[in-house]
Amino acid sequence: MTITDTLTAIVSEAFEACGYDRSLGVVTLSDRLDLCQFQCNGAFGGAKLYHKAPAKIAGDVADKLSKNPLFEKAEVAMPGFLNLTLADDALASLADELQNGVRPLIEQVGGGKNVVVDYGGPNVAKPLHIGHLRPAIIGEAIKRLVAASGYHAIGDIHLGDWGLQIGLVIAELCSRHPDWACFADSFDPDKDAIPALTVELLQEIYPFASARSKEDAEFKAAAMKATFDLQNGKPGYLALWNEILRVSVADLKQNYDKLSVHFELWYGESDAEKYVGELLDTLKNQSLLHESNGAQIVDLAEDSDTAPMPPILIKKADGSSLYATTDLATIIQRQRDFQPDKIWYVVDKRQSLHFDQVFRCARKAGLVPASTDLQHLGFGTINGADGKPFKTRDGGVMQLSTLLETVTDAAMDKLKTSDYLNSLSEADKRAVAEKVGMAAIKFGDLINHRAKDYIFDMDKFLSFEGKTGTYLLYTVTRINSVLKKAGDISPAPLAVYSDVERELLLALLLTPEAFGKALAEQAPNLICENAYHIASIFSRFYHDHKIASEPDAAKKAARIALCRLTRQVLLAHLDILGIEAVDNM
Ligand code: ARG
Repeated sequence: MTITDTLTAIVSEAFEACGYDRSLGVVTLSDRLDLCQFQCNGAFGGAKLYHKAPAKIAGDVADKLSKNPLFEKAEVAMPGFLNLTLADDALASLADELQNGVRPLIEQVGGGKNVVVDYGGPNVAKPLHIGHLRPAIIGEAIKRLVAASGYHAIGDIHLGDWGLQIGLVIAELCSRHPDWACFADSFDPDKDAIPALTVELLQEIYPFASARSKEDAEFKAAAMKATFDLQNGKPGYLALWNEILRVSVADLKQNYDKLSVHFELWYGESDAEKYVGELLDTLKNQSLLHESNGAQIVDLAEDSDTAPMPPILIKKADGSSLYATTDLATIIQRQRDFQPDKIWYVVDKRQSLHFDQVFRCARKAGLVPASTDLQHLGFGTINGADGKPFKTRDGGVMQLSTLLETVTDAAMDKLKTSDYLNSLSEADKRAVAEKVGMAAIKFGDLINHRAKDYIFDMDKFLSFEGKTGTYLLYTVTRINSVLKKAGDISPAPLAVYSDVERELLLALLLTPEAFGKALAEQAPNLICENAYHIASIFSRFYHDHKIASEPDAAKKAARIALCRLTRQVLLAHLDILGIEAVDNM
């Protein structure tokens, strides 16, 4: 139960005891925190129901609640608001419930149900670039939030490993090395070897082949043919494809590891191939599939549509599968393997039409039960200072590995005056700087609502002030050093001795509400905001009060408890955001 749930139960009782319907007792956080902590607007609904002045109803309930020691204040604000403020003792003991785990920090709403989060989605053979940051960072945060809320969360990278990009690489390799056994019709996977490839080669070859296909029609046709042959299981191509996959996946893992992004499943579009036959049968059996100019399509338009809804393409005229085909077939696989309660796709918002089509087709064909929540959680673009999609100085696309190195360098520079860092070996120093750098870019991304574009500004992200990952990590290290200084103090109950301590306890107690809202809206930025809110109140508390050096033993113990709880709650935020804290910096 969140604190507003707890208070709603109490206030509903009071409404009932006064002879009013208990459903009127819904309590929310006050929108005027200077006046009170919580409010209930139920008297207005009651006024209609009982033909009484709202102030009278609110007054009855306020009288009742005033007798409850939980409240410092339960009073009417005209014309009929019920304003509530907790007694400090009550606030402290409610927060104690967070401290000792009686009250969960995150509402367990998942009941162990399966949720597939489809995120990352890189295309193998193409190097990771800055455009891959958002699907990885946002997807990981959403998956962790889902898991922390009591679902069984399954992150699936859904590799783009089955499309034209592979055909392009195969065709280019074939034109450079026509002698390789994998290109001969006589290729025998048991006898013939595949030459070992490298990431460097793949990184060079894909852009080259892609550019070539735009000028060389014959080459493009060869790449399309290679894609088709691969999809139809040509042994030499399959063997080469496996090698491309081996090299790319190892490289992807390295980059994602640095970002603390981990997938439960490393499936790709290729894994959907075995469900394509079933997809076609299902669509045919329901007379949904029909031919158009040689291609197989499903009509999706409905009379109620307010925007055009083009038909979805299932098979090209040449018989090859398309992006939508693998997405639909993957839904069959996910339904079979997990019967998921939800499938959420964290993918560029520019793909919204694609997902509208896929979801509508899946519904029409009954690939999932009507209750399954299918959602495209679209994200915006990362822009440069000029407001246009981020480019390197020479106008190119920045590779992710380069970006991560650059951020780590910048963090090293930022921390160059840190005594702690300077006491470390060069390698340990860089490890801390890397964590600070990752926190900076992840928080810098996640603080923006996912659907919004934002400007990539490394200096701003690394700042020790404001809504930054650096500030949050720094706050945690400050708590660490206070606790270290205080030494071994046994756990004590929380207490309020000042306004800022009251404010901090209230913010901590409201954290489950923030997590709940973030889940309901799939909006990790709300977690960032809440973490910043707590950290900034903590900073005021830290500046204004003696903690480790507090002479009064009871006060000191309560403040240490407050520091510990603050750290625990901040770390829970960082953990869900996929940000690793550092002990010191
Ligand atoms: N590989 C795709 C792309 O680069 C993204 C995949 C997103 N996930 C999905 N199930 N379609 O655009």
